[in-house]
Amino acid sequence: MSDTIGRTTHVIHVGTERLEHVTMDAMSVKSKHGKEEIQNLRRDYRRAQLLEKNVSADPFEQFDRWFKQARKAGEIEPNAMVLSTADGRGAPSGRVVLLKEVEAGGFVFYTNYNSRKGKQLKTNPRGALTFFWPKLERQLRIEGQVRRVSRSQSEAYFQTRPRDSQLGAWASDQSSVINSRRELELIDAELAKVFGDGPIPLPDSWGGYRLVPSRIEFWQGRHGRLHDRLEYFRKKGVWMIRRLAP
Ligand SMILES: Cc1cc2nc3c(=O)[nH]c(=O)nc-3n(C[C@H](O)[C@H](O)[C@H](O)COP(=O)(O)O)c2cc1C
Repeated sequence: MSDTIGRTTHVIHVGTERLEHVTMDAMSVKSKHGKEEIQNLRRDYRRAQLLEKNVSADPFEQFDRWFKQARKAGEIEPNAMVLSTADGRGAPSGRVVLLKEVEAGGFVFYTNYNSRKGKQLKTNPRGALTFFWPKLERQLRIEGQVRRVSRSQSEAYFQTRPRDSQLGAWASDQSSVINSRRELELIDAELAKVFGDGPIPLPDSWGGYRLVPSRIEFWQGRHGRLHDRLEYFRKKGVWMIRRLAP
């Protein structure tokens, strides 16, 4: 039977023992924070339009404009982007990472090469980056090949990071299962002692990736869900633009 806050007690008899097992009732959770409330969340986008005549022929130049506008609009982390990767069987996964550079025809982020994403990129070196800038009612989708940046580039970037972050890169075997938060903090403290005041070198397992795009889509929210979507794609090495249905 369910009680007033949606807990259901299941009684199971095992031999002479009477066991009680309590679960939360999904329906009661739904009625409190649920279906109708979520269904009624919507915004109409009216802020801007995206027309062929106003965009740059070069998607990197267009990215630069949009990125500057996202910063100016006060987006909290304008360089936060969802990185999507897939494993060898094609099963996808996504997570947020920070864009750190745009150079050499690509978008650079830093991470642990042995992490889940790192392993996926080893077997399947393709990825997608998705930015969402809600204040500007904009989405940006970038897809392409992913390669490691040079060791010297990772080294140069690592040395600009705050010391705590450098230590963290050593302390965390990213994506592995750990016993407790405490264990992680002990390792971090131990490493702080080991390095003392000396320089913290770049760990072998840590560095950058560059995603070199073959497709970049600029999405501007419009009234009545008739959004603007302009896709840049490469034809014989030249960037072309086409409009996609929203
Ligand atoms: C705003 C934000 C920024 C992040 N930036 C990075 C980043 O630059 N590099 C990184 O490895 N993880 C970053 N993370 C953590 C990742 O989302 C993720 O938890 C981690 O990389 C492990 O992912 P994986 O197990 O799929 O490899 C960030 C998370 C958030 C919310």
